[in-house]
Amino acid sequence: MSNIDETGIALEDEVEGAGFDPSTREMLDQAAEYSYDLHSGQDTFREEHPGDFWSIQVENVHKTFGTNSVLNGLNLGIPEGMITVILGPSGTGKSVLIKHLIGLMFPDEGQILVHGDSVSKMRMSKLLEMRRKFGILFQDGALFGSMNLYDNVAFPLRQHTDLSEAQIHDIVFERLADVGLIGAETRGPAEISGGMRKRAGFARALVLEPEIVMFDEPDSGLDPVRTALLCGLIKEMHTRHGGTYIVITHDIASARQIGEYIAVLWKGRIVEAGGAETMFDSKNPFVRQFLGRRVEGPLGME
Ligand SMILES: Nc1ncnc2c1ncn2[C@@H]1O[C@H](COP(=O)(O)OP(=O)(O)OP(=O)(O)O)[C@@H](O)[C@H]1O
Ligand SMILES: [Mg+2]
Repeated sequence: MSNIDETGIALEDEVEGAGFDPSTREMLDQAAEYSYDLHSGQDTFREEHPGDFWSIQVENVHKTFGTNSVLNGLNLGIPEGMITVILGPSGTGKSVLIKHLIGLMFPDEGQILVHGDSVSKMRMSKLLEMRRKFGILFQDGALFGSMNLYDNVAFPLRQHTDLSEAQIHDIVFERLADVGLIGAETRGPAEISGGMRKRAGFARALVLEPEIVMFDEPDSGLDPVRTALLCGLIKEMHTRHGGTYIVITHDIASARQIGEYIAVLWKGRIVEAGGAETMFDSKNPFVRQFLGRRVEGPLGME
């Protein structure tokens, strides 16, 4: 392909059948509102990685708040041991989806399986045990304002383990070193920058050695350079510690930098999911518009 735009995606006219004509628009505007035909990327990916399996499976999940139908039959597999990026415009249900994965919300219909176990069928004790598989970096770092960074990172260890203070000390310093915060351990969250808060939240998310690490918009509120640095750190930690990473974002550059598997969410469904290369070369009009940051396409300001 010779003609590549600044995002690295082949331009529209290069890909057969990807042109976005009025009849396609009409089709997308119909009752179902959009064509999210493809799980082919997901199937292809699975064929290419015969040893891998889904860490989390989301099966036909529906969730409505009053009259606001947020998840509309969402299907998604999250591959074990990889960095999956879930991309989607604002208000499409990304945070609602995350809450379903850890059993903070439950589907009206459909189910979520974490390592094969259905989240909505778990008793409370099992649910709490399941949640311990997860390390979560919330949007603002969600640090305790009254504690310094050391105590923030030590908190899950003090809550959930019988480790001695000496053992906790060693782990906390290892994690703070991982994220480049040695020297800042006695500072409070209010005394450090937004980027440092995210790194501290990341250290805390990793402290119990979770099997699954989830990031809700780790890049929000950061400038592009700090976003790239944080993404670099996410990638490095994944290489070092392994595990299944799920990164929620609407930042295409972040997806490109760290995504091994990419799922595009729109209006409560996965439009397409697959390996990163397949996705950045997608023929689906919505995925092309969104990943290619085009103005033309099914996505409007509505
Ligand atoms: N607890 C709730 N009760 C009622 N409606 C809710 C609740 N949580 C979310 N919603 C609605 O669900 C929709 C999707 O919200 P969500 O926060 O998942 O979007 P998002 O994709 O994370 O957006 P953003 O990129 O802006 O964070 C919104 O219309 C929101 O108002
Ligand atoms: Mg959100």
